[in-house]
Amino acid sequence: MSKIPKNKTIKTKSIKAQSNQMWGGQFTSSPSELMSKINVSISFDKRLYKQDIEGSIAHANMLAQQKIISAADAKAIVSGLKDILGDIEAGKFEFKDSLEDIHMNIEAALKERIGEQAGRLHTARSRNDQVATDFRLYVRDAFDALDGLIKNLQINLLERAGEHFATVMPGFTHLQVAQPVTFGHHLLAYVEMFSRDRMRVQGARSRINESPLGAAALAGTSFPIDRFATAKSLGFDRPMANSLDAVSDRDFALDYLSICAICAVHLSRLAEEMVNWSSAQFGFIRFSDSYSTGSSIMPQKRNPDAAELVRGKSGRMFGNLIALLTTMKSLPLAYNKDMQEDKESVFDTAENIGICLQAMAGMVSDLKVDKEKMLAAAGTGYSTATDLADYLVRELKIPFRDAHHITAKIVKIASDKRKNLEELSLKEMQAFEPMIKQDVYKILGVENSVKSRVSYGGTAPDNVRKAVADAKKRIK
Ligand code: ARG
Repeated sequence: MSKIPKNKTIKTKSIKAQSNQMWGGQFTSSPSELMSKINVSISFDKRLYKQDIEGSIAHANMLAQQKIISAADAKAIVSGLKDILGDIEAGKFEFKDSLEDIHMNIEAALKERIGEQAGRLHTARSRNDQVATDFRLYVRDAFDALDGLIKNLQINLLERAGEHFATVMPGFTHLQVAQPVTFGHHLLAYVEMFSRDRMRVQGARSRINESPLGAAALAGTSFPIDRFATAKSLGFDRPMANSLDAVSDRDFALDYLSICAICAVHLSRLAEEMVNWSSAQFGFIRFSDSYSTGSSIMPQKRNPDAAELVRGKSGRMFGNLIALLTTMKSLPLAYNKDMQEDKESVFDTAENIGICLQAMAGMVSDLKVDKEKMLAAAGTGYSTATDLADYLVRELKIPFRDAHHITAKIVKIASDKRKNLEELSLKEMQAFEPMIKQDVYKILGVENSVKSRVSYGGTAPDNVRKAVADAKKRIK
């Protein structure tokens, strides 16, 4: 029997030489190694360097404008910040773990460059409103990038839909052949989904565009700051109305993650269809070499890995949304350090939704369509049975419910005889409804079936051609 080990206490070492120089004061010893490990965020929040500097410049200029600091101090601060920006972009800046996060790394660097004047920058500001501002600016850009990437995919889908406005394929419900549709119509369904994603982006883009800067730690400040001025210079519509809300709100990140999660659902559904369509059993499409891989053992294989990964990556994006929802759900007002966990989810989702949207756009524009296979498949599974029932209603004035029953019997006999509907003789059909005439054969073909679906939003080629033109105008 194995002995139960005694509880061991984990020794914590202090990093003496590296105690955070930003607060000194009441702290006599430095944080333990583990404290640093759990606390440090610079490895990921350094991505916010540009936004952090932008926010600080706006803040410093406003402080001078309001005569809270001197114009000379503001000038030194702003030029120091610009130098730091240049160094970071040139890869010449050293980020230090001992300085915890991006805000303190930049402020410490500023002090090294311009001396004590740097200390005036943090007047009437806290890292709480600072990080909220930086992150909003970052996610705002991410929304704009997302919109552009979705639009690009829509344009590629529209291009292919235009080519295939009359290409007949089977439409499915329950993955059983239902009625013939056109491939163009099928692709346009995705254009609509992505339009809704973009509407969500627009809505979120207007909600995110308020400035938290000047909320300070949580309660506002006694200095005569001008929050409207900083909001304006950072491109925000207005300052956030409540200082507590300003520092504790991460709805904008949740908006981003949920919009991306829904968009990932759309991408995943399209990817799933493409995986099916590219299989030998469907044979509807063939991916270009750029988006296929081979197998190390089976020489004949041509795997749709890119589509599978678009489908698979939806999982991590849902996870990122759930992670942040869970982090936020029990936080009391106002700022809590838990909220530092907001960033990695967003960074990960931004990276992956970008890859997925671009890969999907590439796959869509490259793929080859096998029209013959699609057409042949469209005729299987008695896909024009509804057309036959509609014929009985329209031409013979039979009530739809009765027409449905008659058609079901005709389908049954065709299936027993292993024939398609149009392979049945007129006599065979007349056994169930004597009034059926020769003209029935016209409506049993799949091409005529799709042509007849002219109701608004229907799959008729004329509709699809018009819908493509309309969507092209809409999607600018
Ligand atoms: N690194 C922190 C974050 O991302 C910045 C804000 C820290 N504020 C504080 N009072 N500890 O949330």
